[in-house]
Amino acid sequence: MKIPIPLFLCFTWGILGVFASESGDSLKESLKFLAEKRGILVGAAVAAKPLKADPLYAGILAREFNILTPENAMKFENIHPEPERYDFADSDAIVSFALDHHMKVRGHTLVWHNQIPLWLMTKDYTRDELVKILQGHISEVVTRYKGKVFAWDVVNEAINDDGTLRRSIWHDGIGPEYLELAFKWAHEADPDVMLFYNDYNGEGLNGKSDAVYDLVRGLLAKGIPIHGVGLQMHLNAGWYPDPADIDGNIKRLMDLGLQVHITEMDVRLKEPLSKEKLEEQAKVYREIMEICLRRRCQAYITWGFTDRYSWIPHYFFGWNDGLIFDRSYQPKPAYLALIEALKN
Ligand code: G3I
Repeated sequence: MKIPIPLFLCFTWGILGVFASESGDSLKESLKFLAEKRGILVGAAVAAKPLKADPLYAGILAREFNILTPENAMKFENIHPEPERYDFADSDAIVSFALDHHMKVRGHTLVWHNQIPLWLMTKDYTRDELVKILQGHISEVVTRYKGKVFAWDVVNEAINDDGTLRRSIWHDGIGPEYLELAFKWAHEADPDVMLFYNDYNGEGLNGKSDAVYDLVRGLLAKGIPIHGVGLQMHLNAGWYPDPADIDGNIKRLMDLGLQVHITEMDVRLKEPLSKEKLEEQAKVYREIMEICLRRRCQAYITWGFTDRYSWIPHYFFGWNDGLIFDRSYQPKPAYLALIEALKN
């Protein structure tokens, strides 16, 4: 059959036009495309297993985000499983993936009371031994990723909700000065990397965020190399800090000359799921993004991106679905809300 030329052209252009506009638009609509225009990094925490095994997981990460945080791969128990052995397999895989896709990496985390290897927990070490172990650990890990990791969560969750310092192997074994030592050692290993204190429940204005503020102000006053504070932002849609308080807290931290990253955001929902709950969740994601854009936070990172892989159901019975893509990788209203916030 002969197709008349105008009709043929129409048909071909139509197809090409749709293809071009779909690929172009979908890229232009990605979070990272919009975020780059607004001068903010958008990211997600990454689990090594699906990154290696699930092409859809890797594809969405590459399309949507320009910064990644290894969810577990850089934690002490995983990266330093025996006294004389480091295991960089998973962390290297995540870092290579990020760099191959022109993404930045947030290192998480050098010093934490949690996910400590058995060999550290089951022996009594002297203060000198613990100092040597922690310094060696920080130096080894930071040096390996020198020039590749853009910011480190040097100390994670060192403060209790009542504002006191948390007791931990590091606090009890070395003394409260472990905090400043950790920042100094990280800086010695990579003088160019940004160093953060990271915590939860201190996003708004409360006793805990006051304690974080006092801590980082004290470190700065002593000349300790610290460049930012990570606000984890594990929220739930029914209750979360007053946005004005989050705004005020970010402002006072920035007034100290520090950067602020949203480091682990999720907004968990009580089961069963409903349209209203998803809309409420979207509103929370949007509000925090709007504050960040207004205050010029440097990064907005969610703790995972798909409800297929999330820590929430393992830790909060009856709660789930805290992320911006659903379990089938479909964008949720929260994703669209972030797109809208970045566009406006
Ligand atoms: O890797 C093992 C696997 O080999 C084993 O079969 C399985 C059996 O339970 O456990 C796996 O390890 C789990 C690991 O996540 C990887 O999935 C651990 O049991 C589990 O405790 C661990 O949970 C992590 C949690 O930190 C530990 O406290 C979560 O994935 C991780 O999302 C979560 O992340 C923290 C941040 O680092 C700090 N802020 C809070 C945030 C949420 O708790």
